[in-house]
Formats: sequence, structure tokens, C-alpha cells
Amino acid sequence: MSPVSYELRENIGVITVDNPPVNALSHAVRVGLVDVINQAQADDSQALLLICAGRTFIAGADISEFGKPPQEPFLPDVLNAIEQSNKVIVAAIHGQALGGGVETALACHYRCAADTAKVGLPEVNLGLLPGAGGTQRTPRLAGAKAALDLILSGKPISADKAKDIHLIDAVFAAQDLEAQSLAYVKNLVDTNAPVRRTSEQVSDSEEIDSTLFDDYRKTYAKKLRNQFAPQLIVDCVEAALQKPFEDGMKIERAAFLQCRASEQSAGLRHIFFAERQAAKIKDLPRGTAPRKIQSVAIIGAGLMGGGIAMNFANVGMPVKMLEINQESLDKGLANIAKIYQGMATKGRISAEEASARTALISGTTSYEDLSEADLVIEAVFESIDVKKDVFTKLDKVCKPGAILATNTSYLDIDQIAQFTNRASDVLGLHFFSPAHIMQLLEIVRADKTSDEVMTTVMALARQIKKVPVQARVCYGFIGNRMLRQYQREVQMCLIEGATPAQIDKVMMDWGMAMGPLMVADLAGLDISYKARQALSDEQKGDPKSYRIPDVLYEMGRIGQKSGSGYYIYDPETKARTADPSVDDIIEREAANFGVTRQPMSDEVVLNRLTLSLINEGFKILEEGIAQRASDIDVVYCFGYGFPKYRGGPMFFAQSRGLDKVYQDICAYRDTHGPMYWTPSKLLQSLAETGQTIDEWEKENAS
Ligand code: 3HC
Repeated sequence: MSPVSYELRENIGVITVDNPPVNALSHAVRVGLVDVINQAQADDSQALLLICAGRTFIAGADISEFGKPPQEPFLPDVLNAIEQSNKVIVAAIHGQALGGGVETALACHYRCAADTAKVGLPEVNLGLLPGAGGTQRTPRLAGAKAALDLILSGKPISADKAKDIHLIDAVFAAQDLEAQSLAYVKNLVDTNAPVRRTSEQVSDSEEIDSTLFDDYRKTYAKKLRNQFAPQLIVDCVEAALQKPFEDGMKIERAAFLQCRASEQSAGLRHIFFAERQAAKIKDLPRGTAPRKIQSVAIIGAGLMGGGIAMNFANVGMPVKMLEINQESLDKGLANIAKIYQGMATKGRISAEEASARTALISGTTSYEDLSEADLVIEAVFESIDVKKDVFTKLDKVCKPGAILATNTSYLDIDQIAQFTNRASDVLGLHFFSPAHIMQLLEIVRADKTSDEVMTTVMALARQIKKVPVQARVCYGFIGNRMLRQYQREVQMCLIEGATPAQIDKVMMDWGMAMGPLMVADLAGLDISYKARQALSDEQKGDPKSYRIPDVLYEMGRIGQKSGSGYYIYDPETKARTADPSVDDIIEREAANFGVTRQPMSDEVVLNRLTLSLINEGFKILEEGIAQRASDIDVVYCFGYGFPKYRGGPMFFAQSRGLDKVYQDICAYRDTHGPMYWTPSKLLQSLAETGQTIDEWEKENAS
């Protein structure tokens, strides 16, 4: 049965798209639309209304079709057929009209929307551009600037805002949308309103500054570094203003096809689906009911605890923070109030919202006050003895059924669970700093964590707008375990000949959000030094992999906060400059290890750093620490600044070729020894058999 149906309601032909879950424009929908448009031209209808069933209007092209051979009719042709209809067509939008959904609405002659609806062109988030007339029709209605803002930001706007910029003609109360839209169409018929084709409209004569397009090009060259879709979007919108519609459409089509075939779009599309997959836990019995979480307690009101607390206050949930003394508690609460005030000053939230959120977070110094909390998250010092103290106390005071979580980055959560008499209620909730901003949440499932607890926290994570990924227990879980290998290799490259500025530049140019040594300076070399002190020599590994940060720490160069670390920082502007004396320190320490430093090519730096991540990623997958390879990609892209347009380390490895990746790792093992470069067995087997990660996962699922 076609997902597009058609019925006559009096003199109006109503076209309904019903393609759950989000009415994506799959091949069947495109065929159905063309069929009903043709049918409607010849029947008794006097005008047409396009609506959607289910939770939303059309949410775009079907992204899963993009990697496959294209099938006619193509969307631009379908939309052309809609626009060329001799009968007036009106779109009625509810939920979200996104991407191809907006383009469909723009091809209709008039547009109504529910007051709760959102309208957006998010293609840029997938490394694409609106490819069915969006870059040509939007500026004709909204003007170049509003069109560029909408398309380049990729962010949906409200129905009212869309009406302000002339994309929508009428906004109705959500519950009356269908009835009101029908009345709207009837009124068009009664008043003999003409067919109004967007393609025939001339963009409003808004004054276009001669630098407008170049300014957008420059801004987005920085904002979406290395990505070419944003630059092509500007070209297309510029063409919309300068050329006839048909010529603009040809330019858009060529640019769209270029984007669709690109590795950048493949990477971003992979991450789109990976993010949604990560929220699903494979072995949870269907129908496991979550527990109710209505109040949260946080142990520790430091930066991490405060950031975690804000996540819950942001969605209206009361939070109690516990500190060991009133002074630390007051400091933590004041810090949160300051952050909320800052958000209000910047206009991100209203002053009332800032006060309301601040008021949701209260404090205590007594464990007794946590007895009613549904969820407790501990964010105290990383020491197993301190955790033991906290969890023993929690076990005594918390009500039955409360979930007890640790925010530890490395410690053994199975061991922590044993400090209580309710191991099935214990798990890790690993937030990333700053916890109120970073999207990733590693959910560490310990040996005895119950299905019910897992179901609860996965749902809760979505509620607080995090991107959750399940990890099992091991040192560093998914993210930090890989990070350790990456950081180790950074240090080895320094000792062998690379410089801090070179390493950071190579990784930034490649697309990482920050260079690894910039990150180290920002996080503070004191933090990593103290964490190292808790490790045995064996855990610390080769001294070459930590000698330089030890020396910098001992010199008081602890990073940005002390004005120097791997770099020097201007006390006023915090501007970073390379420091030749650090190169001298590295030279001296390398000599102490008997290493003669040699210049290292950028290519080698990049290879060693990415391969160190990838090899560990495969080990994590083969050990079952991560459920699937794409979960590892989500962790790295959402928590560690890995470029999403490269799809994450595992996707990048697959697209580079697993045999090539394996050979390179073997070559490093042969020159640097097996200590850090033993290839993962899984990687070896895939490289030797030619099986892809996907194929291996499917085989193992059965
Ligand atoms: N194509 C195929 N599948 C899609 C899809 C799409 N455009 N949009 C969503 N889905 C799938 C999701 O993968 C998910 O599948 P799953 O249940 O198997 O995991 C399911 O629909 C539900 O999606 P969400 O979990 O994301 O549901 P939400 O309610 O949280 O969000 C949404 C709904 C806001 C519509 C969100 O899914 C979304 O942002 N979708 C993508 C929208 C988009 O990017 N559109 C542009 C596409 S490109 C395009 O149109 C090109 C054109 O210009 C030619």
C-alpha cells in the first residue's frame, strides 16, 4: 500500500503522507506524491491540502537511501510537479518540517503551520545542502540573509519565526490545524486565490551588502572548519539571487550531488544513525519498566558536581548537593548561580529561568538529607577509599530502589558496587567536563547492574538531553581508555622529534576540535600529574610516555592557569604562543633517555595518533566493552572533539581500509616494539579475512 493517500473532502482534495516514524521522503513516498498530484489534476477537486499522519510533517529525505543507488523520481522533479499543479496546493505543517519536508512545503503554493511546529533545513549537519530547491526557493521568500542563517545554522525555527520571514502564511493552534487549514484552503477557493509559485517570485529587494556572501564564507570556514558543504550553500544562495530559477536549480543539483557522494557526508550520516543506535541496549528484555526519577542528589559540589546538577535543574528536576562542609557547599552553589546568571546576561535563558533553575538546586552537609533521593550521583575525588566511604554511607541512608551512580573516570565500578548491599542499583554515570555543556554521557554498566536500572538511566539521559553510550567496566571505560593510548603516543612523538606546536597543528588541521597539548594545558597538568601518582609503575607504563609533563609540572608550568605549560599564555588575553624553552626541555629529556630526536613528518604524527586510537577501539570492541563499533564513534565525536565529518575513529578506520590500518600498526610494532603496538586480534582477523566491521557485527549478533 502506498504511504501517500488521497481523498476528496467536499471540493478539497486531501493528500496524506503516512510513512512512520517521521514521514521521510522514501522512494515510495515520492512515487505516491507524483501519482496523487497527477490524479488530482483531473478530478473534481478545486484545491489541494497536503498533510501528514503521525507525529510530524515530513522530516526530510530518507537518509538511509543516500548510500544506495538513486531511484527515480528524484525529489526536485517531484516538487516541480507539485509546484506546477494547476490547482492551488496548501501544506499544513505539524511537528517538524525538516530538509526535504520544508522544500516540499515551499513547492506548495501556500503554507499553514501549527503554533507548536518547527521548520528547519538541517542538511548541513549531514554534510549536505538542501537539494530539492531549498537553496533557491528559501531566499525568494525570506531574502538572502534569513535563508543563509536558516540553511547554514541547520537549526529549526518556530512557526511564528518562519511566518516572520515569510516562509509560512498562517499559524494555527496545534489542535485545530487540520480543520483550520481546510478552512484556509476553502477560503482561497472562494476568493479565487491564484496558484502562487515560489520559483516565479523575485527575492525581496532587500539591500544586499556586497560583502554579505564573503562574510558568510569566512564565518563558516571557521565555524565548520574543513567542511565544504557550507561553502557550496553560500554559492547556491548567491546563485538564487543572481540567476533565473532553472539555472540556480542546476547549480544546486550539482553541488548537492557532490556533497552526497563525499566522505564528509558519509561520516556525518554515519554519526546521525550511530547516535540513535547508541541509545539502544541490545540485551535489555523488551518492556522493562523504568523507575521514576523525580529528585536527584549529587555528592560533591565542585566543578563536576555543579555541572552535573545543572543538567537536572535545566529540565526542572530538583537537586540536592552534598559537601563535607558549609564553606565548600556555599562556594559550589554560588558558582552555579554565577553560571546561570552569565547565561541570562548572554540572553541564552531569561532572568526568571535563571532564578528558577538556581532555586531548584539546594545544599546539605548531611547524608541523612539524601534519604528521599531517587538517584544519587557521586562526583568526589578519584580515590577508591573515598568512594568506599561515600558508598557505604549512601547504602545506609538511601531509600530502597534509589539508584547509586559514580562519576568515576577510571575506577572499578564492580568494586564500588561491593561497598553496598545493593550492587544491582549501582552503575557509572560518567559525565564529561564541563558537565552542563558536553553532550556525551558514558553509562557504565557494572556486572550486577539491573536491567531496570539501565532502562531508567538510558531514558533519563535523553530527558536531560545527553547522548548516552553504554560501556562495560575496564580501566577508563571507552573514552578515557582510548585517550590514554592517544596521549601516550603524543608523548612518544614529542620525545622522538615532533614539537608541541606541530602536533597540535596537525591534529587541528585534520579536524580535531583542539590539539592534544592545548587540551592538556587547558585541563591543567597538575590534574593529570596527581592522577599519575595514584598509579603503579606498571600502570604508568614507559617513562618516556609521561616524563615531559612530569618535568613541566615540577617546574610549576601547570598549563593555562599558571600562564605556562606546553605553551606560554598572555596573562591578559590568554593568547597562546609556542615556547622554545619547552623544545629545549624535550630535547634534554630525550637525550636522558638516549633518544636522538629527528624531525618527524606531519603524516607520521597524524598516522601514529589516529592509529593509537583505532587499535585501542578495536580492542574495546573485541572485549565487549562497547556494544558496537559505532558506539565508540559516538563517544569520540561527542566527548573528545573527533571530527564528526570523519565519522569517528572506527568508521574512519573502515573507510581507510582495515588491511591498510592493520599493516601500518604492524609496521609500528616492528619499529617501536610490541608494548604499545600489538594489533588488536579482531582488527587482524578482519584485515586478513576482508570482512567489514558491519559484517562482523551482524555475524556476531546471530
Ligand atoms: N531519514 C531516515 N530515517 C530517519 C530520518 C530521515 N530523514 N529522520 C529520522 N529517522 C529515523 C531515525 O533514524 C530513527 O530510527 P530508529 O527508530 O530506527 O532509531 C527514527 O526515525 C526516529 O528518529 P529520532 O529517534 O531522531 O526521533 P526524534 O523524535 O527524537 O526526532 C527528528 C525526530 C527531529 C525528525 C529527527 O529524527 C531528525 O532530526 N531527523 C533528521 C532530519 C533531517 O536531517 N532531515 C534532512 C534530511 S536530508 C534532506 O532532506 C535532503 C534534501 O534536501 C534533498
